[in-house]
Amino acid sequence: METRITRLLGIEHPVVQAGMAGGPTTPRLVAAVSEAGGLGTLGAAYMTPAAIRMAVEEIRALTQKPFAVNLFVPEPFDPSAYDPEEIGASLAAYREELGIETPGELSYVQSFEDQLAVVLEERVPVFSFTFGVPEKEHLDALREAGIATAGTATTVREAVAVEAAGVDAVTAQGAEAGGHRGTFLGPHEGGLVGTMALVPQVVDSVGIPVLAAGGIMDGRGLAASLALGADGVQMGTAFLACPESGAHEGYKRAVLGATEEETTVTRAFSGKAARGLKNRFTEEMEGVDVPEYPVQNAHTRDVRAAAAKADRTEFMSLWSGQAPRLARPVPAAEVVEKTVALASEIVTWDGKEKGSGA
Ligand SMILES: Cc1cc2nc3c(=O)[nH]c(=O)nc-3n(C[C@H](O)[C@H](O)[C@H](O)COP(=O)(O)O)c2cc1C
Repeated sequence: METRITRLLGIEHPVVQAGMAGGPTTPRLVAAVSEAGGLGTLGAAYMTPAAIRMAVEEIRALTQKPFAVNLFVPEPFDPSAYDPEEIGASLAAYREELGIETPGELSYVQSFEDQLAVVLEERVPVFSFTFGVPEKEHLDALREAGIATAGTATTVREAVAVEAAGVDAVTAQGAEAGGHRGTFLGPHEGGLVGTMALVPQVVDSVGIPVLAAGGIMDGRGLAASLALGADGVQMGTAFLACPESGAHEGYKRAVLGATEEETTVTRAFSGKAARGLKNRFTEEMEGVDVPEYPVQNAHTRDVRAAAAKADRTEFMSLWSGQAPRLARPVPAAEVVEKTVALASEIVTWDGKEKGSGA
């Protein structure tokens, strides 16, 4: 199935496995997707530069096919604007239940520049990003290094901004999507546009290839996305429960047992809106005035880690899109192959570019 995306990224099938920061996207998962003809993505936002380099080497030992590294574009934040005691008080009951002490010094984010330096030095084939658009000098350096780029947009305005910056492709992230909202222009509520509504409006507004994301789990989603004018799909939740995924076993079980009624968009874990499964933490923290990302993320880190260790999914961030019923605990290659096979049955793909709906 050849599209503008397969040509741009040098892959066989228009299926991108989303970068999922926080552990799911092991080198094994990334390599398995790329070996199957899709594009595997290392979700590297929380990784140190040294860890990214090591993971890239591992991926390269497993596949010679193209793959991507994904990072968060940094936004300004001011930890001094918040009272750590107040934040600590909202989390005290969880720490007590998990038997952990309030942490001392907190580290907030990895240096984007240092992370990106590894992407450049390693000449990673594809770089994707969310939460904004990198500065011109960074995009210039990526282009000079021959690295293809893909940015995230949740509105037409953002997609136009991504294109205007000279990025090669845009991922239109619909409201169904699991994980953090990529919204960077305006409040996140305005960016909660469904995939079905967002994709054709983005397709009509930009000239660069578009990846559809959000609730796409199988060949029906790929076929629908192509019908909407997208050039491919980016799937996250569909790969979470794969054996190669590094997601916590309790998290995998929770996704496999969840229904479409059980996700919510919450700021409780990180300070940034993200879609995940409802649990005690999201419900009890509703209405609590939490600090912005990454301040809240740093403050909840020990709670999330202790919960994972104790297999207490009620306090873990269980990011998931709105179609968890369609997640399968099968090898990643099978997800790619079945998605492409079913989509090929549904659409007779002639490889021609799609026009606008006008
Ligand atoms: C567990 C998880 C973590 C995610 N982490 C990232 C990330 O680090 N960077 C990113 O660009 N998108 C991230 N996303 C969002 C995906 O790129 C994509 O928009 C989303 O998975 C699409 O919706 P779906 O989960 O219904 O397939 C994450 C999604 C999930 C489910």
